[in-house]
Amino acid sequence: MRVIVKNDPVEISHEAAEMIVNQINKNHGSVIGFATGASPVETYKRIIEKYQKGEVSLKHITTFNLDEYVGLSRDNVNSYFYFMKENLFGKTDVDFDRVNFLSGEASDLEAECERYYNRIKECGGIDIQLLGIGTNGHIGFNEPGEKFMDRPFSVKLTQSTIDSNRKYFEAVGDKMPEYALTMGIGDIMRSKKIILIATGESKAKAVKQLVEGEVSPSCPATILKIHSDVTVFLDPAAASLLGDKK
Ligand code: PGA
Repeated sequence: MRVIVKNDPVEISHEAAEMIVNQINKNHGSVIGFATGASPVETYKRIIEKYQKGEVSLKHITTFNLDEYVGLSRDNVNSYFYFMKENLFGKTDVDFDRVNFLSGEASDLEAECERYYNRIKECGGIDIQLLGIGTNGHIGFNEPGEKFMDRPFSVKLTQSTIDSNRKYFEAVGDKMPEYALTMGIGDIMRSKKIILIATGESKAKAVKQLVEGEVSPSCPATILKIHSDVTVFLDPAAASLLGDKK
């Protein structure tokens, strides 16, 4: 795991965007795994800028997102599909026919998870997966627990995740869903390359676990230690509890 500390989220975004754009320019049909939340937003801005300057086209890529809330439609402002449309897809030439999402509105959630697993496989797996990390060490919505999950599954969100994210729902007068669908740890780990972005003091404890702790499902992100190609980008606040392993 490479751990890189940059001065601020904008510096991080330049490097992370460059890694993703290089992958796409190397193979226009790349399969890219995207994440939602505050962490990747600057990186998406940089990708949009590169698209606008003609430095990259997203037309032929296939995309998979990590997760989606159960019960939200694609046009709900708090759905992750909506987030991706607003923050990246709708501002580039992404072909929406190749955008893959777990559907939070599926009537059979188990079948939906199975479909997503098979779809990733059919597309040859993910070339680069972008990740944030929860204050509790989750990746995607793989919450701290007893075991690592291999395939996509339906998850009851922990109180800490609800506390971190409910502001977005409260802002529009909605109640935050208690369940979500998420890629499993296995799906994430099968990605060829992984980029994780963590900024701000609220992530410092989870980052310390990730970099210095043991691999354990009680901090799901720690599994990344055994992946062969992970780059972790931190700002000084997120890195503040690290010893000299950075
Ligand atoms: P954030 O969330 O990017 O909004 O901090 C990351 C996560 O919960 O995985």
